[in-house]
Amino acid sequence: MNKSDESTILIADDEVSILQGLKAMLEEDGYKISIANNGNKAFELAKKNHFNLLLVDLTIPGLNGIEILERLQHENINTEVIIITGKGTISTAVEAMRAGAYDYLTKPVTPDRLRSIIPKAIEHNRLLQSYHELEQRLKSLTQYEDLIGQSPQMQEVYRMIEAVADSTVNVIITGESGTGKELASRAIHNRGGRAAGPFIAVNCSALPKDILENELFGHEGGAFTGALNEKPGCFELAHNGTLFLDEIGEMALDTQAKILRALEERRFRRLGGKKEIEVDVRVVSATNRDLKRVVEEGRLREDLYYRLCVVEIEMPPLRERVSDIPLLMSEFLKHFNQANRKNIIGFTADTQEVILKYSWPGNVRELRNIIERAVVLCQSDKINISHLPPHLHRLSPDKTNIITLPVGTTMLDAERKIIDNTLESVNYNKTKAAKILGLSYKTLYNKLEKYKDT
Ligand SMILES: Nc1ncnc2c1ncn2[C@@H]1O[C@H](COP(=O)(O)OP(=O)(O)OP(=O)(O)O)[C@@H](O)[C@H]1O
Ligand SMILES: [Mg+2]
Repeated sequence: MNKSDESTILIADDEVSILQGLKAMLEEDGYKISIANNGNKAFELAKKNHFNLLLVDLTIPGLNGIEILERLQHENINTEVIIITGKGTISTAVEAMRAGAYDYLTKPVTPDRLRSIIPKAIEHNRLLQSYHELEQRLKSLTQYEDLIGQSPQMQEVYRMIEAVADSTVNVIITGESGTGKELASRAIHNRGGRAAGPFIAVNCSALPKDILENELFGHEGGAFTGALNEKPGCFELAHNGTLFLDEIGEMALDTQAKILRALEERRFRRLGGKKEIEVDVRVVSATNRDLKRVVEEGRLREDLYYRLCVVEIEMPPLRERVSDIPLLMSEFLKHFNQANRKNIIGFTADTQEVILKYSWPGNVRELRNIIERAVVLCQSDKINISHLPPHLHRLSPDKTNIITLPVGTTMLDAERKIIDNTLESVNYNKTKAAKILGLSYKTLYNKLEKYKDT
């Protein structure tokens, strides 16, 4: 990159000759230079403009070099600082570094020394800058690819995915069932350089050994009884793309050996085949097991484990990111409203409370399913506790809005109880009650009149 493109340096020194000398030299090198001859001015300038680097004399009038550094940090201003010290005593140098200076230089500062240190400081500043920008961008995200969530835990997941997506390192995604491991693996694929290539998923635990090997490596025609035609396996199909090995940790040991070989040598043979087929695949795997235990128990080869788990991304369980639940609820409600052509506007307060209180052992999948079920059952404008499955009712803050009817109740009595309880729950507002019950106002009114007579 042409340095003069963007790199900006502020030099702060009270010795005019040094100031002018440094300025001339660095301008010649292509940097954009600003100068200040006192500490307060330097700080004000650095606050107003973005400099990649501040070269500051430690003992400048006004704020000294370390004070400027501390204020910049206090105000979260991302500028690299190099302190120039006249004395060069160890203690000031240590103090400068401890305060967060990129480095320090002792006078007289030689051009060689400057030229070796400045590009590194600027590079460091740029890296930090892009990291901060990424962090800011991710912070405001409520959704990343198909993953929904805004909690710090999910931001960490997004950050990890961004970091690995463009590389080819093998990634393992761990986490309880329903935490979004498959969605995360698709996000890695979609955000990386292989997005245009295929994404091929294989569930390793669901298939018996022979079928799994056939899935992974394919076969030649006549490889075994019934194998009339050749069939490419997932390794081949995922060429130039991503192979998602789901639920690993459950495979036969010799299948593991074959997978390991294919990963290490980037080539393999189809079942019954002689020809070696070369492939370029990026492997993302997932498990809800504690794989280290599986390795200890001898059910997963250690070498395969290390090959697959270069980077681990851990999906947090839903109960550890409760702050995301309202967002997930409203997104799922929107989705299932559309799918079912409904127009439910939300959840009653006690329903929300129950949903927030529940521990979600099945994580996001369970929440999604429960909201789908509620949307289907709900005939009013808000989802209430009766639309949730019975095992959630016990968490209800107010059990009076659940109707229990003893066996043997007549239809007439059942209807009366349902109407009474509904009226009570809406403060005897007949219009609302009629709407919830799916009755016209007049029908409800007539029924109530009839009850008066009995
Ligand atoms: N963060 C999330 N945002 C939106 N939907 C999610 C999220 N996490 C999971 N889901 C949904 O939950 C369901 C399960 O997700 P997924 O299949 O990715 O989970 P998993 O971790 O692979 O589960 P398992 O271990 O049971 O295979 C899917 O319907 C998915 O759309
Ligand atoms: Mg899965």
